[in-house]
Amino acid sequence: MIKVSPSILSADFANLIHDIKKVENADMLHIDVMDGHFVPNISIGVPVVQAIKKASHLFLDVHLMISDPLFYAEAFLNAGADLFCFHIESDSDAQKVIDVVKKHGKKVGIALKPKTSPSAIAHLINQIDMVLIMTVEPGFGGQAFMEDMLPKIQEVKCMAAEKGRSIDIQVDGGINETTGKLCVDAGSNILVAGSFVFQAKNPSEMVTKLQKL
Ligand code: DX5
Ligand code: ZN
Repeated sequence: MIKVSPSILSADFANLIHDIKKVENADMLHIDVMDGHFVPNISIGVPVVQAIKKASHLFLDVHLMISDPLFYAEAFLNAGADLFCFHIESDSDAQKVIDVVKKHGKKVGIALKPKTSPSAIAHLINQIDMVLIMTVEPGFGGQAFMEDMLPKIQEVKCMAAEKGRSIDIQVDGGINETTGKLCVDAGSNILVAGSFVFQAKNPSEMVTKLQKL
């Protein structure tokens, strides 16, 4: 079964909980945290994650596009992040970040920007629950899907299988029914979708469509 994680970056921030309630059939909720430094955009911080945790029962999939995820890990985990996904290109020591998340008993993922090779995380694959393959340059919603990321999905899947691991492979950026299908065929099992879900008349229907891919 394909899991779907709607990205609230494309939701109406003035009516956030109203929009989140529209996607209660989703498998998790994708929260994009941006610090204006790792990416040229600023989005959501700890208090918003805390507020969403109180108002929704959805599993919180928090994508940290920040330079120092280690410094902020405790705060986001205490705020209610169920899955803490940080970038390997960040300035933090990846092993230390993994250790903090595990100490909290939460899931940990590592994200790869489009230009980063999966070999950058080969030594960590045994310790993580998920790899996030960015299919756009991180920072903004509504960008076009990068089809040349498809071989990377297969590469990560093989890399994990070689170490006897079957881990979740999430894709994020430009996902719709067509591009989502390509990712699923390549081996991805978690689809993040922002504009495709929240700009639709019926967001929950879009979630179901992606779950069925
Ligand atoms: C981009 C974010 C994505 C974004 C996806 O940096 O990580 O999660 O919200 O938006 P769409 O699905 O519109 O490309
Ligand atoms: Zn994201």
